[in-house]
Amino acid sequence: MTAEITPLIAGNWKMNGTTAALGEVQKLAGLLAAGGGPRCTVVICPPATLLERLNELAAPAGIVSGGQDCHTATSGAHTGDISAQMLADAGAQYVIVGHSERRTNHGETDALVQQKAVAAHAAGLVPIICVGETEAERDAGNAVSIVIGQLERSVPDDWSGHEVVIAYEPVWAIGTGRTPTAADIVEMHDAIRGQLEGRFGARGSSTRILYGGSMKPSNASEILRIGNVNGGLVGGASLLANDFHAIISAV
Ligand code: 13P
Repeated sequence: MTAEITPLIAGNWKMNGTTAALGEVQKLAGLLAAGGGPRCTVVICPPATLLERLNELAAPAGIVSGGQDCHTATSGAHTGDISAQMLADAGAQYVIVGHSERRTNHGETDALVQQKAVAAHAAGLVPIICVGETEAERDAGNAVSIVIGQLERSVPDDWSGHEVVIAYEPVWAIGTGRTPTAADIVEMHDAIRGQLEGRFGARGSSTRILYGGSMKPSNASEILRIGNVNGGLVGGASLLANDFHAIISAV
C-alpha cells in the first residue's frame, strides 16, 4: 500500500440486512475496541433503512457509514430514489456511486455516475466511484482501456475542496470467489494511479484506490499489500463481524 495514504476498508451490504444485522455491527465495534480501535478508515454502507440506527452503534467505535447510491437531484418527484442530502442528513459520510450492479440493473452510464459524484460533493459526502471490466472485456485484452475510459468519464473534472475514492471492482470477481492475479491488480491500480495523477496532479497521488471483488480474510493481506491498493470495497464478507474484522486487521 502507499505509505502516506490512510487506507479505507468499506463494507457494501447491498440489499442485505434488517434490524437483526445490527448485532453484527455491535460485535464488530467490540472487536475493534478490544484491539485499540481501527488503524484505517472503516466505512459500512448498509441499506438506507438502517443508516441512522447503525450510526448509533458504529460512531462510538470509530466506524462511519455510507449510502449505496444517490440521485443527482436534491429532492423532487423521483419515487423510490434517495438524495445525497438525505444520506448526509441520516449521518452518512460516504456514498457508493456507479457500482456495477447499478450500471447493469439500472442502466447507469458513466455520465450519470459523474453527476451523482457531483451531487455527493454538494451534500458534503465522499463518493466512492466504482469502475471495472467484464470478463469478456478482460478476455479480449481490453481491461485497462475499459477501466481508464470509465474513470475519465465517471470522475468529475472539478472536485477541488472535496475528496473522491475510486473502487476497482472487476465485474467477474464480484460474488464469485474469483479474484484477479496480484500482477493484474498491480497493472490496473498502477494504470488508475497514472490516470489520476495525469489529470489531477498531487490530488491524484493521494486519492484512495480500493480493490473490490471477492475480498475475504484469506486473500485480504495479499491484496492489501500491493502498491496503489489503498483499501478494499467488501461485499459478502462485510456482513459478518468476524470476517470484516479480519479484513480490517489485515491492513
Ligand atoms: P463481494 O465481496 O461479495 O464479491 O462483492 C464485492 C462488491 O461488489 C462490493 O461492492
